[in-house]
Amino acid sequence: MNPQQAQLPAPSAEALIASQTLCQHIAEQIDAADGWISFADFMRHAMYTPGLGYYSGGATKFGGAGDFITAPEISPLFGGSVAATVAHILAETGGGVLEIGAGTGQLAAQILAELERRNALPEHYAILELSGQLRERQRQTLHTLVPHLVAKVQWLDALPTDFVGVILGNEVLDAMPCELVQFADEESGNSEWQQRGVTVSQDGFAMQNRPISDAKLLAACTPLPQIPLYTSEIHLEAQGFIAALAASLQRGLILLIDYGFPLREYYHPERSMGTLIGHYRHHTIHDPFFYPGLTDLTCHVDFTAMYTAAEQNQLSLEGYTSQASFLLDAGILNLAEQLPTESIDYMKTAAAIQKLTTHAEMGEIFKVIAFSKGLTGDTAPGLRGRDRSGEL
Ligand SMILES: C[S@@+](CC[C@H](N)C(=O)[O-])C[C@H]1O[C@@H](n2cnc3c(N)ncnc32)[C@H](O)[C@@H]1O
Repeated sequence: MNPQQAQLPAPSAEALIASQTLCQHIAEQIDAADGWISFADFMRHAMYTPGLGYYSGGATKFGGAGDFITAPEISPLFGGSVAATVAHILAETGGGVLEIGAGTGQLAAQILAELERRNALPEHYAILELSGQLRERQRQTLHTLVPHLVAKVQWLDALPTDFVGVILGNEVLDAMPCELVQFADEESGNSEWQQRGVTVSQDGFAMQNRPISDAKLLAACTPLPQIPLYTSEIHLEAQGFIAALAASLQRGLILLIDYGFPLREYYHPERSMGTLIGHYRHHTIHDPFFYPGLTDLTCHVDFTAMYTAAEQNQLSLEGYTSQASFLLDAGILNLAEQLPTESIDYMKTAAAIQKLTTHAEMGEIFKVIAFSKGLTGDTAPGLRGRDRSGEL
């Protein structure tokens, strides 16, 4: 543990035991795989092992008492704005909404409330969530905020077939396991891309490189700068996820919001350490082995890779823009105008809109990408603002 980490709040005794149990489980997986697993496999175990992984276990995760805060937790106007896009598409397609990775359920509650206000409720609102703990939290949030609409919500165990309507996900792609690659240094006499993986060491876990044997992973390294020890992430799982969404969607829109860049910016020679970080109690952690199961691991999204995966799976690009442009075009300011201006809530809302839309905060680093299948109507609100698709 480095000095910065030594000063971080210690986990409770119960949380510490859960993390140690998870470490033991991961060590057994490494042992069963002859002493090495890919970083993507490590991240999958650390985040999604039932009952113990970061998302599947008891960690608080969201909000002030957790590790990070997401847009729907900042203001209900975020979901209210997303609902403008959703309502527009549902008016053309009918059908339902499918939210992937619904976190605490705030976004679902916000979208349902705004769709009801617009008299545009869908036939059903489905949620696909890997974490049993979060499913329960989503159910509680919906019961508290929109009790009369809970009957519309159904939790799925797998993607549906022939889905019609809107599929959406906020900050889901960044939570998917990614591969880590590193360009070999001159000393190793081996100038080629290496796959980073995890072994068991005396102190816990350690990174160990191996030559890449997976042709798909090697091909994905082609655009990366060949600089000794240049390290970055490759998002094979997220690309597979886009392909799975494409197969699931019969007609409608896929709307994904997340932090990230297009390829040229992502794999810039100066971004030589990649974007993998941890979040622990609102601190940024650079050690991916810091309290596994209690630390959120995340990477930025390579939006060019998502676009390529979508194109290869017969989806059309419907829009790519910043979160600021999306929210402003979707009408976040109009929603704010409907609130009483003399209240403390109005001041809080103004501060929240600033956080969600300014360049220095979430407005620019977060992007919105939308793919469609079989749509013929006008462009939806949110996607008529500044078109950034030329950057992909
Ligand atoms: C960073 S949280 C975002 C939660 C929520 N969308 C929000 O904005 O607050 C990531 C969410 O994605 C879920 N998740 C990650 N991969 C998933 C997958 N393949 N299928 C369904 N949910 C997934 C996690 O369990 C978690 O709920």
